[in-house]
Amino acid sequence: MDAISIIRTKRDGGVLSDEQIDWVVAAYTAGEVADEQMSALAMAILLNGMERPEIARWTAAMINSGERMDFGALALPTADKHSTGGVGDKITLPLAPLVAACGAAVPQLSGRGLGHTGGTLDKLEAIPGWRAQLSNAEIQGVLADAGAVICAAGEGLAPADRKLYALRDVTGTVESLPLIASSIMSKKIAEGTGSLVLDVKVGSGAFMKTLPDARALAETMVGLGTDHGVRTVALLTDMSTPLGRTAGNALEVRESVEVLAGGGPADVVALTLALAREMLDAAGLPDADPERALADGSAMDRWRRMISAQGGDPDAPLPVAGERHVVPAPASGVLSTLDAYAVGLAAWRLGAGRARKEESVQAGAGVELHAKPGDPVVAGQPLLTLHTDTPERFDGALEALAGAAVEVVPAERAHEVAVPETVLGRVA
Ligand code: URA
Repeated sequence: MDAISIIRTKRDGGVLSDEQIDWVVAAYTAGEVADEQMSALAMAILLNGMERPEIARWTAAMINSGERMDFGALALPTADKHSTGGVGDKITLPLAPLVAACGAAVPQLSGRGLGHTGGTLDKLEAIPGWRAQLSNAEIQGVLADAGAVICAAGEGLAPADRKLYALRDVTGTVESLPLIASSIMSKKIAEGTGSLVLDVKVGSGAFMKTLPDARALAETMVGLGTDHGVRTVALLTDMSTPLGRTAGNALEVRESVEVLAGGGPADVVALTLALAREMLDAAGLPDADPERALADGSAMDRWRRMISAQGGDPDAPLPVAGERHVVPAPASGVLSTLDAYAVGLAAWRLGAGRARKEESVQAGAGVELHAKPGDPVVAGQPLLTLHTDTPERFDGALEALAGAAVEVVPAERAHEVAVPETVLGRVA
């Protein structure tokens, strides 16, 4: 086996054999295939795609590159959720304790934000004292105590993906269906969950900009999960505008706690409940009542236990950015567009995200939305509040929000404003 012939096969539109896939993934993980060779192969895969059996074998090879976790000792069914990434997507925060309160165990191994989408771990690290890095024994302990754990995936889980994802990030090869599907599913299958609900985002703020592309990704991932014995379902959900009214770490934690307290924005509550129902169904608990668990405080109780078990203080005040800038509505009428990508980019430029993996994020930075598409607005009223500790970042954020990112139509054209549903489809 040699890397060059494997690259040539894919470059020329061929199909990789099982042996080629097993070899190249293992050799890359071991450092025997160079980054520049894997970059060329990733680009060839991006351009020429992979057939289903190739994706399945690639995923299996990535799973086999590391350890597999096992929650078999728990007396509870396990359920996990994975989102393909969006702006203001804080759903994991209320969802994990909510599903735990309904009787399933939720081992949620999560990532950090890179680019314009936020990362769950960055959000939770806004809580004073909270620790993302847990040993396998600690993960089992928090899960047994609180019923849910949200933490960083250990170094041993799908190390091939860890290496390849970092390479794809700097070589323009993230947006490839086979590479995204195998990356996500290798980690989720290695994590050892019994059931999995995928939240596949569609729209400007997502990897997949169109419904057919998102459906194709969802079908591939559902197939991979099912083949590996994980009960897998996907919801296709809107990411043309941010979820909820905040994008940014501490801002999103605050909004998530509002949801757990029985309030919060309607779209966040609706998606949290829709995903909770899917997870509970997949875990074999179809009669559980997540709406009641939000209303009666039992989900909040699980949240407090989960945060405390990981060193966090659920009662500590959350960080607040030192500087604010208000963006007014440009005209009177009905807000027709508030573009997810633009808001994500603005939040990122304000310091909520990082440009390089080594950078730290500002806990208080981000964007607060005072109106959502479909809402009436009056010229000059506050539309967005930008938050940062470093005011020299305001210009870059405002640039991201210029042009067609924010649009208002006159009230008499309100009927033309089509506000997308939160849930656009389902793949099982
Ligand atoms: N999330 C992942 O874990 N991998 C991808 O390739 C894209 C999103």
